[in-house]
Amino acid sequence: MQTSSSKLRINGASARGLEDVTAFTSSICLIDGQQGELAYRGYDIADLVEHITFEDVAWLLWHGSLPEPHNRDQLQERLCAERHLPPIVLDVLRLTPEETDPMAALRTAVSALAHFDREAEDSSRAANHRKAVRLTARIPTVVAAFARLRRGLEPVAPRMSGSTARNFLYMLSGEMPGPRAEQTMDAALVLHAEHGLNASTFAARVIGATLSDTYSAVTGAIGALKGPLHGGANTRVMQMLLALRRSGQDPVAFVRKKLAANERIMGFGHRVYKTIDPRARYLRGMLYSLGRERDAMHWVKTCNDLARVVKHEKGLNPNVDFFSAPVYHMLGIDADLYTPIFVMSRITGWTAHLLEQWDNNRLIRPRARYVGPRGLQVQAA
Ligand code: ACO
Repeated sequence: MQTSSSKLRINGASARGLEDVTAFTSSICLIDGQQGELAYRGYDIADLVEHITFEDVAWLLWHGSLPEPHNRDQLQERLCAERHLPPIVLDVLRLTPEETDPMAALRTAVSALAHFDREAEDSSRAANHRKAVRLTARIPTVVAAFARLRRGLEPVAPRMSGSTARNFLYMLSGEMPGPRAEQTMDAALVLHAEHGLNASTFAARVIGATLSDTYSAVTGAIGALKGPLHGGANTRVMQMLLALRRSGQDPVAFVRKKLAANERIMGFGHRVYKTIDPRARYLRGMLYSLGRERDAMHWVKTCNDLARVVKHEKGLNPNVDFFSAPVYHMLGIDADLYTPIFVMSRITGWTAHLLEQWDNNRLIRPRARYVGPRGLQVQAA
């Protein structure tokens, strides 16, 4: 019964974009799109973001349970020890043209990291787990190093202590962040860590299921996240907010014009959520606190105006990328680094899914319903 109904869906129009197709069973993430609920390994996202750090979330995603104090210490030690980049990868970043999209630079650097990891082709579970930790440690170093190099600044060496959030903000600016900035970045990392079978995670699992390696799967996932319909939306949201501020254009008129031209408003809509994305709800709270604290309530007003008109005109809610953009902006971060920051977090979800995939692997190979011509013959010249 299940087989025939899924066959119907797969052969019919409703499977376009694989909407509502269940491809796997997974114990990593629960999303209830009707109720607006998100839980990692059974823990509600609101509980996690209020009570634990990004590093604890990483452990939770990889191991399925919260870390004991000694696990936390062990992970922290390993993350710190792995933060430095191989010098040649740093050279690759130095040679990367400064106008390169930071997601493209990150994609290349992650692929290059494989060449300097002696475990790159080791497919044992233990090695795959170590690579998950190593990539989680090194990706922030890549992002911060490229952000500085393209501005003609020397990279700042990672610190051998402190959270991922703190170390990243330090490497980016060369100055220790205050507690508010660290806490905001840490919460953002918690909120972006995992989200079921989104496009980039699916891409990672498809690559992993061929029994290719972690670096290949993560490189592919970065390519998928880069797109503006997925993680790349957060950069576009900020570009839109900055353009609105510069031009002084009314957000309501702006949205109406875009919709009339059949264009998408970045940061709105979601394949799964039919109500507000719970991550957006939390990020909106962060936007309010930072806006008040930094005398920047104009971002709150512009975002609220946009959200109101998009809901009214199109019935769409903001997604995770809408409020994260002005939050990062208020931390002084360039707009095109927002998607790489997403990678710094989502690497944990991707690698948790790879570990799960390899625990019970089968090649992922759907079918396309052929609708082209048949029986054509080549005419001899
Ligand atoms: N602005 C305007 N119209 C939209 C938007 C939007 N942001 N999102 C969906 N729509 C409209 C489509 O134009 C379409 O309208 P139509 O039926 O009149 O043609 C309808 O809603 C359905 O759109 P689909 O693309 O089929 O819906 P899907 O579920 O595939 O879209 C997506 C999900 C890609 C996220 C979409 O909402 C979108 O493009 N949003 C903007 C980009 C964005 O913010 N992406 C980040 C998503 S969160 C993440 O990936 C981390």
